[in-house]
Amino acid sequence: MVSSQNQHLFKRYLAQTSDFQPFIIDVRHADGVYITDKSGKTYMDFTSGMCVNNLGNRHPKVMEAVHRQLEQYSYTMVYGEFIQQPQLDFAERLCALLPSSLQMLFYVNSGSEAIEGAIKLARLNNHRPGIVSFKKSYHGSTLGAMSIVGKADFQAPLSPLLPQTTLLDYNCVEQLTTITDHTCCVVAEVIQSGAGMVVADVAFLKALRQRCNEVGALLIFDEIQTGFGRTGKLFAFEHYDVVPDILCIAKSMGGGFPVGAFVASPDRMDKLNNGHPLLGHATTMGGHPVACAAGLETLNIISAPQFLCSVQQKEQWIRHYFKHPQIKTIRGKGLFLSVELQDANTIENVVIRCVDHGLLLLWLLFNHDTIALTPPLIITEEEIAEAAKRFCAALDEI
Ligand SMILES: Cc1ncc(COP(=O)(O)O)c(C=O)c1O
Repeated sequence: MVSSQNQHLFKRYLAQTSDFQPFIIDVRHADGVYITDKSGKTYMDFTSGMCVNNLGNRHPKVMEAVHRQLEQYSYTMVYGEFIQQPQLDFAERLCALLPSSLQMLFYVNSGSEAIEGAIKLARLNNHRPGIVSFKKSYHGSTLGAMSIVGKADFQAPLSPLLPQTTLLDYNCVEQLTTITDHTCCVVAEVIQSGAGMVVADVAFLKALRQRCNEVGALLIFDEIQTGFGRTGKLFAFEHYDVVPDILCIAKSMGGGFPVGAFVASPDRMDKLNNGHPLLGHATTMGGHPVACAAGLETLNIISAPQFLCSVQQKEQWIRHYFKHPQIKTIRGKGLFLSVELQDANTIENVVIRCVDHGLLLLWLLFNHDTIALTPPLIITEEEIAEAAKRFCAALDEI
């Protein structure tokens, strides 16, 4: 329930980006897997705030880290000028968990900025014009990121965007010859979320890596949704024997606080320092100390092997409990799943009915047959069973 006054203020002051409003919740409180609105109704959040709250809302250890940091300082200076301990501690821990070719990072505030930084870094490394990405991919809403989003009707109203971009079919090895020595970089999700959790084939990802090596194009992985344990590994690329040249991360990285990064080798990162009196790349808020403190605590919890194993177990529980004649298939890995229904026309209705049943879900950007199942990674078996019960009750009503 939303008061008419707040509904009015919401529409009066916050720019609306779509007419499409499946649900507006007037949030009073959130804890773990649950969000409570101002009427006292509680919802299970099976979106994790679009893969931000991997540890749920207000994880006690993350909150402690935030409070500890706030006792010391909140913000002191733009990126790269002062030594701020949370930035160092977080970067050191993260790099210790990454392959030897991904050992230096640049902090940003969001996923789109990570993508922008990664493309810029690729350009500074090989000065080539072309950028390749994949149909039905989503990489953010800034102009550079929009230039490589895999859906032409998203781009049309914004043109002209970046030139010399090419969209290929995902998982299509034959089309990889389109990547040539004019290609600066290839940007790919390891699991395409907007497409409905379409998992990259091993052969495709390996061929992509090989083709980039052959022609000298840089391979950029967008792990903005798939990162930080979401798929049952710290990063989804760990399911494959393939390492990108540049890794983009954000969303759950800050445990509910805004921080992202692009990560590469020190050699490649060195090109950001182009000797120009103006900085090669800059950010005022990127690497905010409070977000870094929250991020380090989040990383420490998620990276524990038994925690990552539990995500794989929870995938099995979802596959076990989410059963209904209307469910055609469940795609994805770990807790990065989507459910495809027999009747695509019912998706919107199902999502809205689930809200009535106290279950928050989202459908996907480019695939209107499917609903995302991306609960917080801390969810229990009982909560999964309860969510499945609510989901099936909504399906029964259709
Ligand atoms: C795969 C992917 N890349 C990039 C982005 C952009 O991230 P942000 O909204 O933080 O700019 C998103 C956001 O949903 C995303 O899902």
